[in-house]
Amino acid sequence: MTKTAVDQLSEAQAVKELKRLAEEIARHDHLYNTEDKPEITDADYDALRRRNLAIEQRFPHLVRDDSPSRKVGAPVSEKFAKIRHAVPMLSLDNGFEDQDVEDFAERLRRFLRLPADKPLDITAEPKIDGLSLSLRYEKGRLVSASTRGDGMVGEDVTVNARTIADIPQVLSGSPPDVLEVRGEIYMGRRDFAALNARQVEAGNPPFANPRNAAAGSLRQLDSSITASRALRFFAYAWGEVSALPARSQMGMVECFDKYGFTTNPLMKLCHDAAGLIRHYHKIEAMRAELDYDIDGVVYKINDLALQNRLGFVSRSPRWALAHKFPAEQAITILRQIDIQVGRTGALTPVARLEPITVGGAVVTNATLHNEDYIRGVDSAGAPIRDSGDIRIGDTVIIQRAGDVIPQIVDILPEKRPAGAVPYPFPHTCPACGSHAVREEGEAVRRCMGGLVCPAQAVERIRHFVSRNAFDIEGLGEERVEFFFSAEDPSVTIRSPADIFTLQKRQEQSLTKLENIDGFGATSVKKLYAAIDARRRIALSRFLFGLGIRHVGEVNARRLARHYVNYTALAAAAGAARMPEAGEKADKGNEVWQELINIEGIGGIVAGAVVDFYAEPHNVEVLGSLLAEVTPLDEELPVATDSPVAGKTIVFTGSLQRMSRDEAKAMAERYGARAAGSVSAKTSLVVAGPGAGSKLNKARELGIEIIDEDAWFALVGADEK
Ligand code: IVH
Repeated sequence: MTKTAVDQLSEAQAVKELKRLAEEIARHDHLYNTEDKPEITDADYDALRRRNLAIEQRFPHLVRDDSPSRKVGAPVSEKFAKIRHAVPMLSLDNGFEDQDVEDFAERLRRFLRLPADKPLDITAEPKIDGLSLSLRYEKGRLVSASTRGDGMVGEDVTVNARTIADIPQVLSGSPPDVLEVRGEIYMGRRDFAALNARQVEAGNPPFANPRNAAAGSLRQLDSSITASRALRFFAYAWGEVSALPARSQMGMVECFDKYGFTTNPLMKLCHDAAGLIRHYHKIEAMRAELDYDIDGVVYKINDLALQNRLGFVSRSPRWALAHKFPAEQAITILRQIDIQVGRTGALTPVARLEPITVGGAVVTNATLHNEDYIRGVDSAGAPIRDSGDIRIGDTVIIQRAGDVIPQIVDILPEKRPAGAVPYPFPHTCPACGSHAVREEGEAVRRCMGGLVCPAQAVERIRHFVSRNAFDIEGLGEERVEFFFSAEDPSVTIRSPADIFTLQKRQEQSLTKLENIDGFGATSVKKLYAAIDARRRIALSRFLFGLGIRHVGEVNARRLARHYVNYTALAAAAGAARMPEAGEKADKGNEVWQELINIEGIGGIVAGAVVDFYAEPHNVEVLGSLLAEVTPLDEELPVATDSPVAGKTIVFTGSLQRMSRDEAKAMAERYGARAAGSVSAKTSLVVAGPGAGSKLNKARELGIEIIDEDAWFALVGADEK
């Protein structure tokens, strides 16, 4: 149907057309927001809205009550509802070499103070390359299924999970009342090949690998699509359980079998590192023949009581290790080297490659690490590889392991084209032209442009909105770049606070984001909703988002847990006095002492935090941000009903029943903080034989002192 141009419309035609547009736009809103099945492109949708607006501008008296221009917008519906995991879904620590397995076993023994002659049973099983899923059963019936998400909150995929044959709706045997079974959803290789053939036939793009196919099939709004996709499930772990039905990893997996789950037949109980390594190589040899993708072998301490004692470090259990298979390699040609400027000004060379498929994924970029890596000589003058430097035009060996960015591991010098020249690493920043300097002993060359370098500023904002920081959907890499370089003051985002004032600035402006290419009206609405959802944010995410040097996710969480609220943390950062140059790290005022005594935070991290708050520009940026955003008090991750929750404990002297590391981990598990030195803030000192100055100080300050047995009794951890 050809449409009459707006300026040609009669009034009667305009009435009809406005009605039609109101209905059609409402229908597309519904398809997009609720069904997640848009029928038209964002650009076509925008054209409809623009036409509606143009007619309304010509005939203002005809504007309908239900006009799309009057509606604030359909409710923003997220694809899936969210489910908070009763017990977080964790990731695994990785190992790559046989030596890492020896170290793992040794570490466990040390932590548990197990003598070398005591056996230590550890299970070994394939690491399935799929996506993890948590299934909750109440009284034997499946009540919910959720993806891992960020480990704390996942997506509710219950309806889809019910279509998967390996997932029982009702359990057999006598399962505990509440049982969360966790495991891996995956797609078999043959099913994957058949699915891709169907995709291509239907004119759809094929999936890159079975894992993507499994993820895409599970996360479908239409569960009949999931049902048609041949997904399978191996059960290997658990979350909340009302009463554990077994005392070992192996025993639990045997129970899963009895309840009706499929478990992996290659799981084996081993008794030492050598046994684990043997089983690893056996599985590795079978890898090609298996009908599913695996990317390594997972080791787990068998005894659940020991698992419990070992606990967690950050997001991975101390009692498990993923021993990954070696990365896959391929040969291709290096076409170009680009220099990227990071958040801290680091100049990072990126290789642009002739596209090549490695392990099922097409690779076009690879990291070249730094200047020395290209030259092939490290900062001490030692060669990095036998084949010398890397030049544009070289034939290179690239390697890809899991999801990490591929790297160039070597070149084939005999294939170097005549005339290839050594790569001249720039000494100025490609983004702002400032000097790029390498400091003594550093491998990285950094742009000195600091606050004037646009590349650094863009990267800081990218970091701020990234998944583990503010996690603002709709502000992807390209959009950040767009907003940063936008000239119009109602569109620019040059600092974090600008993100939160965008909507207000837009409302007062004639330049409408929704009229700009690449922004549909719906996507703008979604963006505003995503921004508003982050006006209240966990303190740890807030801190991580600031991009303070050395304050990654883990340290942000440590600081947040210690100070609990933002005001306390900022006050401490402002009041801390570092030791003078030449003084020892244990000097400085009391606030500084408290900071460096936080478990895992030393002088370097503490110094970076204090420096950050000492910089007036940062304080200014923070001030505008805090006018828009409220950091929430950090929730402590553990049961607060323990008698030591929220207390600060110091362990001193030699402990008999546990190592010092275990003692600290145990305190944290019961909601307490472990500190290294005694101060007025210490709530309790646990002293073993030989305790000296810390014990005396505790006595002086009148702090409660108990022995190790009393500690176990206090937290109720004595073996029954
Ligand atoms: S155990 C607390 N066992 O690997 C530990 N994980 O890198 C829970 N995975 O998110 C995980 N096969 O999706 C475990 N046999 C296996 C596994 C496995 C694959 C995945 C899982 C997890 C990831 C961690």
